[in-house]
Amino acid sequence: MRDGERADDGAKPYTQVDLSVLVVGAGAAGARTAIELAERGIDDVLVLGKRDHGDAHTTWARGGINGALGTHDPEDSWEIHAADTLNEGHFLNDPEKVEAVTQQMPDRLRELDDWGMDFSRTEDGEPDQRFFGAQSFRRTAFAGDYTGEALLNTLVEKAQQHEIPYRENVMVTKLLSDGERSHGAVGFDMDSGEMLLFNAGAVVLAAGGHAAVYSRHTSRDDENNGDGAALAHDAGAELMDMEFVQFHPTGMAVDESDPDWEPWSGRLVTEAVRGEGGRLYNSEGERFMERYSPDQMELDARDIVARAIAQEIAEGRGTENGGVYLDISHRDRTFIEERLPRMYERFSELGVDMSEEAVEVAPTSHYGMGGVRVDGDGETSVDGLYAIGETMAGVHGANRLGGNSLAETVAYGVVTGEAVAERVDGPGTVPDEVRTAIAEPHLRGLQATANRDGEYEPETLMAELRGLMWEHAGILRDEESLQAGLDRLDAVRRKAERMTVGSMQSRSFEFALDLGFMLTVSEAILRGALERTESRGAHYRTDYTDKSERWQRNICIERADLGGMELSTEPVGEPSEAVRVALDEGHELDYHQLE
Ligand code: FUM
Repeated sequence: MRDGERADDGAKPYTQVDLSVLVVGAGAAGARTAIELAERGIDDVLVLGKRDHGDAHTTWARGGINGALGTHDPEDSWEIHAADTLNEGHFLNDPEKVEAVTQQMPDRLRELDDWGMDFSRTEDGEPDQRFFGAQSFRRTAFAGDYTGEALLNTLVEKAQQHEIPYRENVMVTKLLSDGERSHGAVGFDMDSGEMLLFNAGAVVLAAGGHAAVYSRHTSRDDENNGDGAALAHDAGAELMDMEFVQFHPTGMAVDESDPDWEPWSGRLVTEAVRGEGGRLYNSEGERFMERYSPDQMELDARDIVARAIAQEIAEGRGTENGGVYLDISHRDRTFIEERLPRMYERFSELGVDMSEEAVEVAPTSHYGMGGVRVDGDGETSVDGLYAIGETMAGVHGANRLGGNSLAETVAYGVVTGEAVAERVDGPGTVPDEVRTAIAEPHLRGLQATANRDGEYEPETLMAELRGLMWEHAGILRDEESLQAGLDRLDAVRRKAERMTVGSMQSRSFEFALDLGFMLTVSEAILRGALERTESRGAHYRTDYTDKSERWQRNICIERADLGGMELSTEPVGEPSEAVRVALDEGHELDYHQLE
């Protein structure tokens, strides 16, 4: 590390940090990448987290991690896992990436087991596997219903054994790129306000997704606001599949006037509740999935279950708090406590015993299938800039299988870690023109944003944006509403020029920057959704209700030369022969094994 180059024009000095690889994001994807780099001998790596070490969104992932281990169902295979993933993604996934993930996952799970992950186990001591939606076999390995937490603990411990440097409470605000080549990044320390320039040979964005641009979401409010996608877009990389946002069927539906319940509105009620036999009922006591999906019932694809619930609510068969009932009270308390401990505990603290009564649930924004367009190594179109985990696009297509997000983080951590290790050769050199034309003006702009008086609080504008995204780009969309959403977004953008913002250490400063990221990804979602004149997976257009062969293409979004966004489409690749065979065999979940 090298200290203290002074920026021109009297701007505050910044600290320059020289390293081979900067990993932006300290969740499972970032940690697994850093471990792979360390195991391949790259030691001048720095992992940056916006929060305290070990506190990433990964810890909120609950129900499990997929891999064809065949603990219960030996006929399962990586090829059938790939076929299920492609079917769920309505064949907009990149087959190369799907196969890279599914083929590795049995090994990745065994490796996590060797590294001490606290898997729930069968009587024989093997990692147990449960049913999850739209998967042909029991393939979802789990640690109770705290799988993400157990996974991250395991990876953090491994990273500590490798002595991988980690810096917490740092926010990256701009990537240094000339549009062709990445040269690092700039940002600031959220505790001290110190401004930082990272001169890095390669940058890996593992900064999560953008599900929190909607008012009802499963993330915490200050994460998953699209930092990764927005930073990459600004640096000249392409985005892809942004119109596909997964609405998880079962977020908590609560009485929002009750201060004990209100903070939990929209938070995840894991799919594992249904995987362990939970049933959905409307307010008339009808198990309504029998009408929508008699074979796969509550474990059909997430988009189908979410739309079914939304329809029940819209047609007046919802609960008082705007949800439906999810009931697992036919299972024993000890079973629920063992398989779903966090859910049981959370509802118990709120005065509801899941072994005695149903809980209320409704759809909630959970995951962005879209993100940064990357090649098979996870590299963007900007040389030396990589994106992985929820920040990247391509694995999930139009819809994601539950349990595949954690799988993607560790599988791509290895793929990208290997690719980056092969190319890096120490820190680069930030060219003078990048330093003077991009880095320094940006850092001065950060200073100018701080301590500013204006008309609007950043948090108020974030809420306005989230509300309009829910209203105009939610589960059901149409042209008129999407267009109105873009107009409203423009109005928020104009208001954002007149914000009241505190010091660089304040929450309002962080939120003001988050709002900028959110505006970029929200616009990309609205534009992609307007362009895709069909319904497919999680994208449902009420004015184009059918799937169209013509739209068997990915929508890509680039920054236009004169500002704004430029859209184009790209064809999707073909699966390998082995996966084609599995697709032709037509495997699918038989729900009634659960009853
Ligand atoms: O419901 C869940 O536990 C979510 C899992 C996932 O999205 O992969």
